[in-house]
Amino acid sequence: MVPGLSFRIVILTGAGISKESGLDTFRDADGIWAKVRLEDVATPEGYARDPQRVLEFYNARRRSLLSGRVEPNRGHYALAELEQKWPGEVVLVTQNIDDLHERAGSNSLIHMHGELLKGRCDACGRVSTCRDDQTLDLSCDACGRTGKMRPHVVWFGEIPLEMERIYDVLAHCELFISIGTSGNVYPAAGFVREARLAGARTVELNLEPSQGASLFDQQVIGPATEIVPAFVARVLAGG
Ligand code: APR
Repeated sequence: MVPGLSFRIVILTGAGISKESGLDTFRDADGIWAKVRLEDVATPEGYARDPQRVLEFYNARRRSLLSGRVEPNRGHYALAELEQKWPGEVVLVTQNIDDLHERAGSNSLIHMHGELLKGRCDACGRVSTCRDDQTLDLSCDACGRTGKMRPHVVWFGEIPLEMERIYDVLAHCELFISIGTSGNVYPAAGFVREARLAGARTVELNLEPSQGASLFDQQVIGPATEIVPAFVARVLAGG
């Protein structure tokens, strides 16, 4: 640890950080969107067309996440260690809806695309914990309406969560680290530009160069379980 260094670090993670925990990414050759059409399961129109299909898509992913076979990996733990040991603020913005960052010990966490283990009533907006299958005959604890429970997940065409807070921390950070995201989906893909405008050093850690690779000051290529712990160790050593 280098005395005196205590600036704010903002981290963005995507599906790549959870891949080695056994969760599929979206746009890799074996990814989720190679198996199911996002228009059918990750849009308000798809939900309106066939809500049962959408609930079953997320039920399957929730069962897998809670199966006991999916655990945080060394990349998740390294980010929790950085939050714990770094003298300045660390804010972890994740596009992921799994709870692996929480289970690894990260607390300063923003789920901009929602959470698989939460449900939301489409009638009254009440958000509640959801660890079981969602079905159409479920009724909302708050308003009592039936058949309106949906995953608390942000679909394409919907507005990501906590954007005001995210842009605020990006405007006041000195190090921005993007991990395991392809840079295909906005607004997350534009965060590196915001960080650059704030004068931050920008680093991408990924298995391959992302769509926005050229916008980063530094690129580290490799699997998250190897490159994230190594990078965190360098930051904590003042590198
Ligand atoms: N270590 C590091 N990076 C990896 C690994 C790994 N083991 N495996 C894959 N990757 C990288 C891939 O090279 C790719 O660049 O992770 C990235 C995953 O990209 P996507 O599948 O597009 O996932 P993501 O960027 O998180 O998608 C963003 O799109 O579909 C929506 O809402 C969904 O949050 C998601 C958003």
